[in-house]
Amino acid sequence: MSILQTENLTYVYGKGTPFERTAVDNVSLTIEKGGITGIIGHTGSGKSTLIQHFNGLLKPSSGRVLFNGEDIWENGKIMPGLRFRVGLVFQYPEYQLFEETVYRDIAFGPGNMKLPEKEIRERVLETAALFGIDSAMLEKSPFELSGGQKRRVAIAGVMAMRPEVIIFDEPAAGLDPRGRREVFDIIEKYCRKTGCTVLIVSHSMEDMAAVADRLIVMNHGSLFCHCPVNEAFSKSGEISAMGLDVPQITRVFSMLKKENIIFDDEVYTVDSAVKQITDYLSRKGGEGRC
Ligand SMILES: Nc1ncnc2c1ncn2[C@@H]1O[C@H](COP(=O)(O)OP(=O)(O)OP(=O)(O)O)[C@@H](O)[C@H]1O
Ligand SMILES: [Mg+2]
Repeated sequence: MSILQTENLTYVYGKGTPFERTAVDNVSLTIEKGGITGIIGHTGSGKSTLIQHFNGLLKPSSGRVLFNGEDIWENGKIMPGLRFRVGLVFQYPEYQLFEETVYRDIAFGPGNMKLPEKEIRERVLETAALFGIDSAMLEKSPFELSGGQKRRVAIAGVMAMRPEVIIFDEPAAGLDPRGRREVFDIIEKYCRKTGCTVLIVSHSMEDMAAVADRLIVMNHGSLFCHCPVNEAFSKSGEISAMGLDVPQITRVFSMLKKENIIFDDEVYTVDSAVKQITDYLSRKGGEGRC
């Protein structure tokens, strides 16, 4: 069942000025409920502009955005409550932390929803547990935490609102490889546990190969493709030509292909590479014995 849809969505910045720029150009797509969709594309391809339409931060210049089948701008006014149902985590969300304690920062979103204090507390504690934030940390100032910890607190604050859709703009930007893995692990765990629909904007095909079920590839404001990850990787040549890095393992397998060592599918994660190599070696072993 579809949860978000765009119909011929176009967004133009600075319309009628010398700086006019079409950032999203006639994009029609349907996002089904549940699962993780990666949104990738080169710098300036329109990823951030596209996602800001999903919770009504931007209003289409033309076209429509639908949530659960309803136009979010029906009658020209934003659908009531949409911002609580579609959560948006901006790039570097830790810059928006401002409360005295971690607890109060995570409680801020649910507080805005005017929930009873008991429910706010339950949500904060449940979300904190998922993030490995203990009671001592909940009482700390967010400014005493490390960069990775601050990032997790900021993400927890949006998750505590329990939106039906949660959208992350480059959630791992600026983190070291361990921090990146932790953030993606939490997002994945949260998505699988709650059944929430997750969208992740990223520059990294490598990260999206590991975490996403489907990919939306944007190119110069247009939709290049929207398909399961393995199908997107079968277009890795075109995707590289757009200036995106395909995963290292995919590049290694492309080189092997040139050496006439042919594997069955496009390979884009280390796990699938291991399986392919093991199968290949057992086939070779079999041939040797014949
Ligand atoms: N506030 C703005 N005013 C004018 N033009 C803008 C504005 N924000 C973005 N743009 C332009 O719209 C186009 C799409 O930008 P957008 O930020 O959506 O791309 P992006 O894919 O998110 O890029 P990045 O990967 O660098 O974050 C770019 O050409 C950009 O320069
Ligand atoms: Mg962006």
